[in-house]
Amino acid sequence: MKDVIAVIDFGSQYSQLICRRIRESGVYAELFQYDIKESDLENFNLKGIILSGGPNSVYEKKSPQLPKFILKKNIPIFGICYGMQLLIQNCGGKVIQSKLREYGVANLNVENNSSIFFGLKKKEIVWMSHGDEVVSIPNECKKIASTENCKFAAIENLPQNIFGIQFHPEVKHTKSGKKILENFIFKICKCKKSWTPKSFINETIHEIRNKIGNEKIILGLSGGVDSSVTAALLHKAIGNNLICIFVDNGLLRKNEFENVNQTFKKFPHFNLISVNAKKKFLSALKNVINPETKRKIIGKTFIEVFESTIQKQLKNSTIIFFAQGTLYPDVIESAHPERKKAGLIKTHHNVGGLPKNLKFTLIEPLRYLFKDEVRKVGKSLGLPDEIIFRHPFPGPGLAVRIIGNVNEKSLSILREADFIFNEELLKANLYKKLWQSFAVLTNVKSVGVMGDGRTYENLLALRAVQSDDGMTADWSQLPFSLLKKVSSRIVNEVKGINRIVYDISSKPPSTIEWE
Ligand code: XMP
Repeated sequence: MKDVIAVIDFGSQYSQLICRRIRESGVYAELFQYDIKESDLENFNLKGIILSGGPNSVYEKKSPQLPKFILKKNIPIFGICYGMQLLIQNCGGKVIQSKLREYGVANLNVENNSSIFFGLKKKEIVWMSHGDEVVSIPNECKKIASTENCKFAAIENLPQNIFGIQFHPEVKHTKSGKKILENFIFKICKCKKSWTPKSFINETIHEIRNKIGNEKIILGLSGGVDSSVTAALLHKAIGNNLICIFVDNGLLRKNEFENVNQTFKKFPHFNLISVNAKKKFLSALKNVINPETKRKIIGKTFIEVFESTIQKQLKNSTIIFFAQGTLYPDVIESAHPERKKAGLIKTHHNVGGLPKNLKFTLIEPLRYLFKDEVRKVGKSLGLPDEIIFRHPFPGPGLAVRIIGNVNEKSLSILREADFIFNEELLKANLYKKLWQSFAVLTNVKSVGVMGDGRTYENLLALRAVQSDDGMTADWSQLPFSLLKKVSSRIVNEVKGINRIVYDISSKPPSTIEWE
């Protein structure tokens, strides 16, 4: 059984990052909300607990409190920022609002050979972000570091194996942050490195086989990273009892349908049903220009195609397993107490494309992974880089990148232009650094001159953005030389475009997609 560190989330924007850093060091960490019950930890080989930071003040009545069972657990505890203040308050120390708030980089004086600071220098650069401070500590606690504005920048309580720091080791600005977290997990909690793509794959295969037995699992394959890795993993577990359905809606990128088919054909006995539904989608989209109407039509048509394909496959059975490539950030988001209160459950809980009366069990083998871990698992399963590093692509596909009528002609122009743009980004080694890069075919026509003739053709926009999660995004400052090359290739090679612009808007106020 793998060693586990539980990270309790008190609302800091960095809580997920703590988990990621620990996992990067080869130990499994899972995020739990501050309303956690002791029974939630029952089935883990728990080695230590980390209490995250948070936006509240521990002395406020309504602030999230330390779950009572934690101090009685008799395993190492590490409080970060708000987490340390909670520990201090619960053990009899005092926290008040500071006169001098500390935001940003600070110089830490390490004053003690505590094992949490093993291998650190006497002076370290750390990242602070707090408006409250600890002014007195319980007798059994010892001060182990300070900064100019923060007397108790770190404390330890050795008899109880409790450690606390006011700064954030999980952010890169804390130069020895990784070392501090590793000291906690390896020196103090004595964890073994047991979180690797291979260990995840083996464990998941075992679980899936136990759960599914000889039944079948249905998976909607889109060719994106998440559904592709889910497919490869489930295939390794249950072979041709996995039925993948890949719908060609006619709105895919150049070569996408062929590439996905080729990739999965290489896996022995891979059960892939590729459905050519181009005509159905394009005729439903005929003369539709309103973006929301386009999306609704595409969603509805997809459900119809998917449903009839499943029904053909399942014949008379009424219970199935249905797989989805849900990732950990979505799971965390919908489990947050504030979100639960607000009833804001994300749409991934609503499984689209299934017959209404069908009972199904949802299988989400990637639900504990971050995106970078999914990529590593994909690589270990033998998926090519082309799939592993593919940019996100919206469900309604190229239809929301064509302003105006979606038809064979507009799709073919967009496909070619989009392909050239991304081909040049790949050649320049820039593709992997971007969140998304694509072309948009506008319905603006303008006058141009080619050879000796006048042209009156469409305007194409290029968009490339950097982002961590798609919620906000910055337009990318691509080199002019690259834009020049792309522009020249597109007007020369793609008939129907005589002018190209580069989109220099960020999100917000713009969105990433144009429709
Ligand atoms: P926006 O345009 O809202 O997009 O800034 C944010 C991210 O979501 C993707 N996107 C979609 N993905 N179905 C999807 O699966 C959709 O309908 C959809 N619309 C936008 C978009 O590509 C970007 O990554």
